Amino acid sequence: MTNENQAEPNGFAALGITGALLKAANAAGFTDPKPIQAHAIPPQLEGRDIFGIAQTGSGKTAAFALPILSKIIGLGTKRRPKTARALILAPTRELAVQIEDTIKLLAKGAHISTALVLGGVSRYSQVKKIGPGVDILIATPGRLTDLVREGDLILADTKWLVLDEGDRMLDMGFINDVKRIAKATAPDRQTALFSATMPNEIAELAKGLLKDPVRIEVSPQSTTAAEIVQSVVLARTKQKRQVLSKMLADEMMRSVIVFSRTKHGADRVTKDLARDGFNAAVIHGNKSQNARQKALNDFRDGSVRILVATDIAARGIDVPGISHVVNFDLPDEAESYVHRIGRTGRNGRDGIAITLCDPSENGKLRQVERIIRMKLPVIADHLGSPDPQRDPKEKTERHFEPANDREHHGGRRDGRRPGSGNNGKKRFGGKPGGERQFAPKPQGDRPAGAKPNGERKPDGFKRFKGNNKRRFGGKRPANRAA
Ligand SMILES: Nc1ncnc2c1ncn2[C@@H]1O[C@H](COP(=O)(O)OP(=O)(O)OP(=O)(O)O)[C@@H](O)[C@H]1O
Ligand SMILES: [Mg+2]
Repeated sequence: MTNENQAEPNGFAALGITGALLKAANAAGFTDPKPIQAHAIPPQLEGRDIFGIAQTGSGKTAAFALPILSKIIGLGTKRRPKTARALILAPTRELAVQIEDTIKLLAKGAHISTALVLGGVSRYSQVKKIGPGVDILIATPGRLTDLVREGDLILADTKWLVLDEGDRMLDMGFINDVKRIAKATAPDRQTALFSATMPNEIAELAKGLLKDPVRIEVSPQSTTAAEIVQSVVLARTKQKRQVLSKMLADEMMRSVIVFSRTKHGADRVTKDLARDGFNAAVIHGNKSQNARQKALNDFRDGSVRILVATDIAARGIDVPGISHVVNFDLPDEAESYVHRIGRTGRNGRDGIAITLCDPSENGKLRQVERIIRMKLPVIADHLGSPDPQRDPKEKTERHFEPANDREHHGGRRDGRRPGSGNNGKKRFGGKPGGERQFAPKPQGDRPAGAKPNGERKPDGFKRFKGNNKRRFGGKRPANRAA
């Protein structure tokens, strides 16, 4: 008979996870730690900051959730009103919802309170939920900034801060909000940043938020999971619809995300698929939050086989059964490719990623190959074939693509104004420098078209009309350096 008390701890117990949390994690199927979990959990339990890089689908969520839960369990329920012990920031609402679900699963039975703060849904219920104080708050930065500024949330007691998709959180669209949020947390807070990609200039920015971090790089940033079989299909833009529909006729494509660079493009692909007999759900930033979450839920539970998405769904979304990712076009930022295709081939499963490439997108394709350090094989070439004839009965829409139709990385990651020093040249498919007048709003945490309470200045800070007293951060000027 073995005496369990004398046995060497293994699994998550060997990393320092114990008691109810260990039981709940095991019950959720988390028995053998993934490499990022094995490397990141012990130093976090020791109180260290983490700079963690690991491939898509490799278990980063539990790598930050378990140590925070472990620390919070046992602290008791005494919390000051309107405070949060831990704050997890994510770039999109859907990802924030998913992180909360994972945390609830991992902490089942452990009496941990969680709350979500996201744009696009009622703020009243969020304010009510954080009223008595919560253990773990998961948020997108825009709404969070509003609640802090308006005095509905106090971050002074927040001792743990996580930036999931850290490079995105420190990119132009979010950086000012994130810096302000970080500054408002407890001075002795512990910070963790995780992502699968980390451009050098963003890694530099991260240094300002992390204190002597433990740097964990399970594999070099931007490497793609070996389980994902990647390929390119050469097709002119006019041919792509037909190529996609032919592909989708194959029943092997059980569960497919089709990524489009723009919201309009996503709508057009969805319509064209419907005309070709395919029922697809669509998710992008111009949809209501209910419609966004419904599209994702329908795809997640298998009631719809095809999800057409912008990069709003590229990061972090974990739908275990996705068999294929199709890039209808190449993303503006090469890192987005890594995240897009990472929706398949997760947690050791197989996956297939196919990228449709028009000759005008060759430059973007080369950039992708450069960051993933891999040449992508061309498995089909339609360039020699004539363009398909569109059914004349189908309404053809002429479309001018406004600058804000792109949904990802609208801002420059170096933080400079458009046109400053790039001589007006195009950078990786973007608009020529100087064309954009304002730093765009971050996508994801504010519904398109919805007006926030005040105007946003180009730096993302809200200008209040009237009552000027309740500024986030106290009496300092609203446009202070974050
Ligand atoms: N130790 C584990 N045992 C079993 N399953 C696990 C374990 N860790 C994570 N998983 C599962 O692996 C999947 C991927 O995990 P997760 O979403 O945390 O990946 P990620 O690294 O955050 O990916 P991304 O970069 O795309 O955000 C999830 O379905 C999760 O439940
Ligand atoms: Mg993740």
